Amino acid sequence: MPKLLTSPFTAFEGQISVPGDKSISHRSIMLPALAVGESRIVGLLEGEDVLATADAMRAMGARVEKQADGSWSVWGVGVGGLTSPDKVLDFGNSGTSTRLLMGLIASHDITVMMTGDASLRSRPMSRVMNPLMSVGAQFVASEGGRLPVTEIGAKMPLPLDYTTPMASAQVKSAVLLAGLNTPGTTIVREAVSTRDHTERMLKAMGADITVEENGQGRTITLVGQPELQPISIIVPGDISSAAFILVAASIIPGADVMISHVGMNPLRTGIIAALQAMGADIDILNAKTVGGEEVADLHVRGAALKGISSLPVDPSTMIDEFPVLFCAAAVAEGESVFTGLEEMRVKESDRIAVMAAGLAANGVQVEELEDGLKVTGCGGKVPGGAEVATHLDHRIAMSFAVLGQMAVKPITIDDASPIQTSFPTFVSLMSDLGAGLSLQA
Ligand code: S3P
Repeated sequence: MPKLLTSPFTAFEGQISVPGDKSISHRSIMLPALAVGESRIVGLLEGEDVLATADAMRAMGARVEKQADGSWSVWGVGVGGLTSPDKVLDFGNSGTSTRLLMGLIASHDITVMMTGDASLRSRPMSRVMNPLMSVGAQFVASEGGRLPVTEIGAKMPLPLDYTTPMASAQVKSAVLLAGLNTPGTTIVREAVSTRDHTERMLKAMGADITVEENGQGRTITLVGQPELQPISIIVPGDISSAAFILVAASIIPGADVMISHVGMNPLRTGIIAALQAMGADIDILNAKTVGGEEVADLHVRGAALKGISSLPVDPSTMIDEFPVLFCAAAVAEGESVFTGLEEMRVKESDRIAVMAAGLAANGVQVEELEDGLKVTGCGGKVPGGAEVATHLDHRIAMSFAVLGQMAVKPITIDDASPIQTSFPTFVSLMSDLGAGLSLQA
């Protein structure tokens, strides 16, 4: 387990781009794998999670290849064309691969065994297995509805009219993807709108899908068994990865960083609004739409942050960004209160408990709430000096690497390897900007 040690920054300046969006990258492999013909993907995130999806789609019959120019090609098998893999699918750390593919498999007459690492094996899968059983899929799951799981897809899948019980794009997408190879119309209703990359990409590929906004979330209607057209995708930079740079540049005095081509899907940009509410200096430049997703360049400069007593946005627009937002709050002046975050307890780790423990160990006053965290900001540098347990959670590791830039004593991250799942260039990119980070074998 390589450790990551922080030291104070020397500067934090430059122009960078972050790797491709993880959510869009997963879908850029999965959906073209059901088209007929070749799709081309530029800017795919080549992190472990997405490579696990690519491996799974190959194992179920699609051809997925990296080209000499760095782009990727996917030749699909057509909706209904997936075949049973002849090996256990190991999804590593990736909840998105697992849950979305459970959906796809549910309406194919195939049998798939799947597992993952210790983090993934501890995460709840019943939230997708329950609706997929109504489609007709069968599951043999481990205790508590967890991986390893064997899924037997339905021979005669049934369309659902399903209301998601929690705000989750993974649950919504699993049901929609099951609807692809199901005769009839599948409907998903969500009380809180969640990231809509699945809907946007299916529409771009010619599926008959409509999204109705009614003031109380959304209703998505998908007509089953479309012939999906291959597409050309340019994956925007991942705002969830850019968030680490946004927070680092906001808390480091004198920082000045430009991040180009960041995905700005309105259901993902909550971190910008939250940081701006804390006093961050972030300009959104060159906003445009590329391949059906909004993108922009983000110019961020150091600023004196202050605590916030409530979020200016719905938590679903920034769900993966809370760990690093807590670090911003730790450096800010005054108290911050974050609530409504119960979903954070079932991410790659229990992000409320793990962040509370890491911040407290490094001298930050925190109070853990059932659904959130109270953070008393240090109004500048945090004491630091402790080792943080990351529990196989990439975002915990990167959050403390950011916080360590503003720590009096170095912070040690016990295991840097999970960073490979979503942001393989994180350490080099941060170091190039002037952050103090060193890996120890
Ligand atoms: C994702 C949805 C979110 C997010 C995850 C990626 C997706 O999970 O946390 O990193 O790509 O659909 P939930 O659906 O559990 O909120």
